Amino acid sequence: MRHETAGVLAPAKVNLTLHVTGRREDGYHLLDSLVVFCGVGDVIRVAPADRLSLRVTGPMGAGIPVDDSNLVLRAARLLDTGKGAAITLEKHLPMASGIGGGSSDAAATLRALAEMWGVPLPETRATMALGADLPVCMAPGAWRMQGLGEELAPLSGLPMLWMVLVNPGVPVSTPAVFKALGKRDNPPMPALPEFPDAQALADFVARQRNDLEPAARAVAPVIGDVVDAIAATDGCLVARMSGSGATCFGLYTAADIAAVAADRIRAARPEWWAASGPVIG
Ligand code: C5P
Repeated sequence: MRHETAGVLAPAKVNLTLHVTGRREDGYHLLDSLVVFCGVGDVIRVAPADRLSLRVTGPMGAGIPVDDSNLVLRAARLLDTGKGAAITLEKHLPMASGIGGGSSDAAATLRALAEMWGVPLPETRATMALGADLPVCMAPGAWRMQGLGEELAPLSGLPMLWMVLVNPGVPVSTPAVFKALGKRDNPPMPALPEFPDAQALADFVARQRNDLEPAARAVAPVIGDVVDAIAATDGCLVARMSGSGATCFGLYTAADIAAVAADRIRAARPEWWAASGPVIG
């Protein structure tokens, strides 16, 4: 009999802002981003086994590879214990969609397996071999993320907020978007002020940017329709694209207002994926 652990949530990572401030010799970009997580995501379950294996289930599971190209198995191997585990990935988030699904899955796998195997978590630098978003995904919360993604400053006292996430079903390649960037030396974010309430945070976010959005819109013009659809919902404080797209988010002051907004978008565009949940900050 398998003894699976209780599921570990791999929540959606959302870049409320994403400034591209430079480019390194090796082609990687310097970022300045306000990152939060939304309480919707994939679920990772692990059980002891003789060898490593991965099974993918869930509404977004079709087409997800179960070989070593999957970050979940690469995360398991990074722990380098030689032990086996039967891993289940219950996929709820769309793939290649700018909300860190693969990175969040890998981070949740590291947490679940380190606990089951009784081994320490890898150093931040080592996790970056799996992706620049790994460090932030290791500790879902509110962060100012800089460097390539490894410089993390926690943000405390964030107001309660709810979020709607909408994806139009068009996978967007992150390297393609970075490659299509017109300008790579944009100004960083200013010093972060206090955010006494949701409106103050939304106003700050609205004044900042996602520097990847113009390039992503060139690759997938439907992103403009997604932002407009979210912005038009009742109670939306601010709407923007996350990461390299195509998923876009809206911020709201209450759970029911966000849920109604997600329902409206689903009804109007049944081919789009929409979800709502609390901001984890
Ligand atoms: O690290 P990750 O695999 O998520 O990055 C995907 C791609 O995004 C990289 O191959 C690179 O083209 C681009 N990227 C970047 N600078 C970053 C993070 C990602 O140029 N800081």
